[in-house]
Amino acid sequence: MTRSFEFHLTDEIATVAMGNCVADIIEQGAVIYLHGDLGAGKTTFTRGVVQGFGHTGKVKSPTYTLVEPYELERANVYHFDLYRLGDPEELEYMGIRDYFSTDAICVVEWPEKGGEFIPVPDLDITLSYVGKERKIVINSASERGITIVEKLNNK
Ligand SMILES: Nc1ncnc2c1ncn2[C@@H]1O[C@H](COP(=O)(O)OP(=O)(O)O)[C@@H](O)[C@H]1O
Ligand SMILES: [Mg+2]
Repeated sequence: MTRSFEFHLTDEIATVAMGNCVADIIEQGAVIYLHGDLGAGKTTFTRGVVQGFGHTGKVKSPTYTLVEPYELERANVYHFDLYRLGDPEELEYMGIRDYFSTDAICVVEWPEKGGEFIPVPDLDITLSYVGKERKIVINSASERGITIVEKLNNK
């Protein structure tokens, strides 16, 4: 059974706040997929998550490096952007499995480009345009994901 949470995001601040909110609820080992067109707010949302875990600097999409690590006190957060990934097999060579450990948080932009090489998510998130604003839909994709979405709906 899937649980779903939906929210209208009026501006960039709201998108960051949503990421913060998710950071407050998720635990180590969580995997988040982010879907949405270019500019939909995936990286903005990720900034909210990473800053929610205590990072104070910038967050930009690791478009060319595929992954940006944030080794923080509460958890290691790994931000993937697979937009420019040519062949999913490259993920094997970079040792992708090592990132998805039980004590890390993994956030993945363009997960569809990774094919079978990335673990299944707990949360499957889609950001979309609503005029100049945005909408977020968060679907649970695991038992752990169900608990998280239920908490979001009860906030
Ligand atoms: N809720 C929102 N409403 C309007 N603009 C937003 C909202 N959230 C983010 N933005 C803006 O949209 C752009 C999103 O860029 P980015 O997060 O890099 O998108 P993506 O990673 O999906 O390509 C940024 O310029 C950001 O300021
Ligand atoms: Mg991005």
